[in-house]
Formats: sequence, C-alpha cells, structure tokens
Amino acid sequence: MYFETPPADRAATVCTLAMPKDTNALGDIFGGWLMTHADVAGAILAFRVAGGRVVTVAVNAFVFREPVFVGDVVGFYTDVARIGRTSITVDVSILVTRMLPPGGRVPRDPGAFPVATATLTYVHVGENRRPRPIRPTPLAQHHHRPHPKATKRKKPAAPAARKTPASRSTRTR
Ligand SMILES: CC(C)(COP(=O)(O)OP(=O)(O)OC[C@H]1O[C@@H](n2cnc3c(N)ncnc32)[C@H](O)[C@@H]1OP(=O)(O)O)[C@@H](O)C(=O)NCCC(=O)NCCS
Repeated sequence: MYFETPPADRAATVCTLAMPKDTNALGDIFGGWLMTHADVAGAILAFRVAGGRVVTVAVNAFVFREPVFVGDVVGFYTDVARIGRTSITVDVSILVTRMLPPGGRVPRDPGAFPVATATLTYVHVGENRRPRPIRPTPLAQHHHRPHPKATKRKKPAAPAARKTPASRSTRTR
C-alpha cells in the first residue's frame, strides 16, 4: 500500500535532506539517488520482518511523479505488500516536505506530499547466500495491514438446515 500523506502509525524508515551533490544535469535531484534510498528503506523493513539478511531480487515498479529539489526533506515510508516463502515485497512511498520553496517564503506548516512510489522484492538468504524460508517477526503484522478498499471475503453460504424427524411430524398437510 502506498501513502499519499505521512501515515500516523509509523515514522519514515529513511528520512534525509536532498543536497546539491545529489542533482542531475538539470539541477533537479537525480532519480538514482531516490532509487538508492528507496532500496535501502525497503531492505530495512524486509530485514526487520525476516529477522535476518536480505538481498534485493527485483525492482518491480518505480514511478517518479514530481521533481525533487535541493533542500527538500525526503521521507521513505515502507509497507509490506506481500510475504512469500522466501521473499518479501515492500511498497515504498516517497514524500517530500519542501522547506525552501524556490523564490518563496518558508511555509509555516509545510505539508508533505508524494513525489514517487516504488515496489521492491527482497529474498531472505542464509550465510551461503541461498534463499531461506521466512518466519515473519511480529513486526510483519503491524506493517502488513489489509488495504482499506479490500473487500472482505464472503463467507460460504450455510448449508440448508436439515429437517429433523420432530419438525417433520409437526408439519401440517
Ligand atoms: C536473490 C537470489 C538469492 C535468488 O536466488 P534464486 O535461485 O533465483 O531463488 P528462487 O528461484 O528460489 O527464488 C527465491 C524467491 O525470489 C523470488 N524471485 C525470484 N526472482 C524474482 C523476480 N524477478 N521478481 C520477483 N521475485 C523473484 C521467487 O519468487 C522466490 O520467492 P518465494 O520463495 O517467496 O516464492 C539470487 O537471484 C541472487 O543472489 N541474486 C543477486 C542478489 C543481489 O546481489 N542483489 C543486489 C544487492 S542486495
């Protein structure tokens, strides 16, 4: 699940300040800088959930929605999307607090807004670097909430009540 605003139930897994050294040729923050931090944030959550070493196996999705500028405070919020046998997929929401609007006044209450989202998959590995089954730590429960729009699975219809001999005998003809 991605977050459009900072979630109330958790802090950013990684929070940092975009610096001039992180810019691309256009002067905006380099996309690879965001990708590095998103990978680190996802790995931190995957490590905590798996309770041990993880490696990145795939970047499933990465979407850049808004440019990021020098002076932005960038928060990487993580949420477990899926836990498999040996892998964990993590959603990363990247939210920015713009402390220095270009040419503008510093806002009194600068709100955070989304600039990018990512989904990455990690594999829990042993010391031999081979995949190892995950036995999720209790943290998984907290970071793996059902999506608010998720529909509850319907209960199967109860079997029709069988008529007992007593109920049959009271039947009127
Ligand atoms: C990660 C690695 C150990 C997986 O080895 P593997 O032999 O492919 O392992 P498996 O085929 O058993 O797959 C392991 C898990 O990864 C998942 N997986 C493999 N490839 C995947 C992909 N492209 N996308 C998403 N998940 C993938 C599998 O579905 C499986 O998950 P599950 O057990 O939850 O069902 C191996 O590919 C590797 O060492 N890669 C390099 C990792 C690395 O250096 N990362 C960058 C630095 S951290």
